[in-house]
Amino acid sequence: MNDEQLHFFQDWFKQHVLTYQEIDPLHQRSIDMKVEHTLRVCAVIERIASGLGLSENDRRIASVTALFHDIGRFPQYQKYRTFRDPDSENHAKLSLWELNRHRILHTLDFAERQLISRAIFFHNRLRIPEHLDPQTILHCRLIRDADKVDILRVMVEHFQTEESLRNPVITLGLGADTLVREEVYRLLFEGRAMSYANLKTINELKVLQMSWVFDINFRSTLEILKERDDIGKLAATMPDTPRLQEALDFINGYIARRLQSS
Ligand SMILES: [Fe+2]
Repeated sequence: MNDEQLHFFQDWFKQHVLTYQEIDPLHQRSIDMKVEHTLRVCAVIERIASGLGLSENDRRIASVTALFHDIGRFPQYQKYRTFRDPDSENHAKLSLWELNRHRILHTLDFAERQLISRAIFFHNRLRIPEHLDPQTILHCRLIRDADKVDILRVMVEHFQTEESLRNPVITLGLGADTLVREEVYRLLFEGRAMSYANLKTINELKVLQMSWVFDINFRSTLEILKERDDIGKLAATMPDTPRLQEALDFINGYIARRLQSS
């Protein structure tokens, strides 16, 4: 892929999202939110990729993956009015469908197209399958890290916004009561991946997102997380309980250890 192709994709993305414009300002906010998320994920992935010293071409591939990873969010929202996959469709699959429908990646050679498609396809899976080749694994890891960094930011911004102005799509229709079940904390302390499907409350969603730290692949991503402290900011929007404090200490200890050792 050359720079010209990358710029073409960036321009196409900007034009393409205009075709999903909404009349109702509330719906438009949901669209804007995904556009802004995408652009920030592009910035984060560039930072991670350059921190790793990747080749120019790998950096371009990472940028295109970031640019298109959530492009399925637009048809998802238009059709279902939700970003909750279990209530609609897997948005990564929708992203590939949308890209194919416009034959947008077809100017790339097959190997690059497949690489980007696979990284998009696996970006929202609980885990990356083990059988993939190293290049695909690298790009899966990049998009998963960059996406998590920005979703944490979206969450923090959401809870820092005055309640009446918050966009309810972000919290996926979960319960507002503050309870976090012990089993959710237990998964965090075991460092195990949690599925959205088992969540009951918004605060459980926050704990799930805090536990993403154990699935972060790169040192530079951990540095960004530490620098921004969105996990701490997210925790600060929950009732201050000993269990939450324990979880935060556990997370911060983990980040410190990994930054020291790698
Ligand atoms: Fe996504």
